[in-house]
Amino acid sequence: MCGIIGIVGIDGKNVANNIISGLEKLEYRGYDSAGIAVVCDRRIEKLRAVGKLQNLKTKLEGNPISGSVGIGHTRWATHGKPTENNAHPITSEGVAVVHNGIIENYRELKFDLQKDGFIFETETDTEVIAHLLQREINNGCSLCKAFQKVLDLIEGSYAIAAIFSSFPNTLVAARHKSPLAVGFGEKHICVGSDVSAMSAVCCDVIYLEDGEWVKIADGNATFFDKNSNPIEPVKQKISDDLISIEKGEYAHYMLKEIMEQPSAIRKTILYNKIDKEIFHDISRILILACGTSYYAGMVAKYWFEKFLKIPVDVEIASEYRYRSPIIGKNTLAIAITQSGETIDTLEALEYVRKNSNSRVVAIANVKNSAISRVSDFVFYTEAGIEVGVASTKAFTAQLVILARMAFGNHEFLMREFQNLPAICEEALDLNDEMKHLAQRIHTANSAIYLGRGSLYPISLEGALKLKEISYVHAEGFAAGEMKHGPIALIDDNIPVICLCPHNELFEKTASNIQVALARGKNIIIFTDSEGSKLLPSETTKIILPTIHSEFAPILYAIPLQLLAYNVALMRGTDVDKPRNLAKSVTVE
Ligand code: F6R
Repeated sequence: MCGIIGIVGIDGKNVANNIISGLEKLEYRGYDSAGIAVVCDRRIEKLRAVGKLQNLKTKLEGNPISGSVGIGHTRWATHGKPTENNAHPITSEGVAVVHNGIIENYRELKFDLQKDGFIFETETDTEVIAHLLQREINNGCSLCKAFQKVLDLIEGSYAIAAIFSSFPNTLVAARHKSPLAVGFGEKHICVGSDVSAMSAVCCDVIYLEDGEWVKIADGNATFFDKNSNPIEPVKQKISDDLISIEKGEYAHYMLKEIMEQPSAIRKTILYNKIDKEIFHDISRILILACGTSYYAGMVAKYWFEKFLKIPVDVEIASEYRYRSPIIGKNTLAIAITQSGETIDTLEALEYVRKNSNSRVVAIANVKNSAISRVSDFVFYTEAGIEVGVASTKAFTAQLVILARMAFGNHEFLMREFQNLPAICEEALDLNDEMKHLAQRIHTANSAIYLGRGSLYPISLEGALKLKEISYVHAEGFAAGEMKHGPIALIDDNIPVICLCPHNELFEKTASNIQVALARGKNIIIFTDSEGSKLLPSETTKIILPTIHSEFAPILYAIPLQLLAYNVALMRGTDVDKPRNLAKSVTVE
């Protein structure tokens, strides 16, 4: 949520274009507004625009700004409406700040600053940082001292970068609970929420830890710990797969990422060997995740309990630490996350760490992300960078890792993995059929998804995909639960999308479908060839390849992604950047 970048040009060259290129890579983190500020002739020059980055670019064409030290921001609004006035960089006289996170004690700080005569011009929590820095500088503090004092005062989560008219060659940046990396190139030193933002000009990176901060001046970066003692963190090479993420022949990243699933699955199988030791002496599994990743966890519960015979709790991470959860002895905690930086999941894990001696395993897509760094062990989904805000390939790759954890002792199922990428490839051929189906349902105001067993979470995921990118209200239900209330929603118009392969629950799901058919006409069933022979002819049947029933959640997710994509296209929404959302959720 919110992307920040800061660049210091070592050779004194203008960095404005580099900042904009970096923001392009960060736009997935929020697109309510974007802004840039540079130091130019001992003045701060800034430009901001509401909406997508393109609006800022257009504005910059008419009003170019230049400077060799600058910061940029792409916003997902938390405090204050997405107006130009609330867009970052936020300034106070000679200070400009960009911030990702939330300053929780901003009200007290604001009150205090107002008493000192500072006038607040935005509705943001960030403005206190700019004024606090300005106040310390006015009081004669050195830049480092001023920054250190401000870091001691602010509470909450932040990645911040600041530039100063009175220290024109210097940039300072800090992190606490929001990601921040420092990149090094031949001609630039950068800070950014994400390494991809700096990979065009940097080859090495240092990931700041909580409480750490950096001062970049005159071609050097000096690092400090939370007590402001100098530290010397180790540089790492920026990995090649961060360097290029283009849409290629596809109209949207989401479609590209859906189509990449067979390869993501293949690589995830190849690169993840699951050591059975991981479950040694474990008597309970606790899964923590949010959104789509949470649904992957729900599927895992079916698999783990069936094959590992270990009880599993799947918890919505944002709820977990705000009740009084009981963490039993010998619990294995598993965090599932694409971004690796979802604050709810990170905080829930930290709660587990503080309140138990449980081993913590992460399943993450982004290498070196915060959650992977605080875990005892990480399995990486080898899905590659996921740019589309709606998670697709990371989800099926998460399922692959979870399935491998579950099926470890089952030779036949472990062998079956080899066929999975090819079967998923076949499912992609359903895209044309999904276009036709989308044509039929895209004007509906609401849709129902039904599934049983491990396909129940897939019905939730199908509904989430539809609502987040097409803005059509959709809900997933356990098919057997429908008669306990949701059935009242069914009429001739509402699409009822049922997941019904010919598996051990087929008869039960088929009778739930009959009940729906008795009340509505728009029944669409995703099934296989055997199932299709037995299901009512008055329904629309989409036939998927036949697959072992344990793998069905992975396969059935794919056409539902394609359906959501095609509905969104027909409704004319911004598929890759749906309204109000951001790819990475770093605020509570
Ligand atoms: C939906 C989606 C979100 C994320 C959720 C958790 O398509 O992407 O629901 O799954 O915000 O994010 P991660 O997996 O990055 O922790």
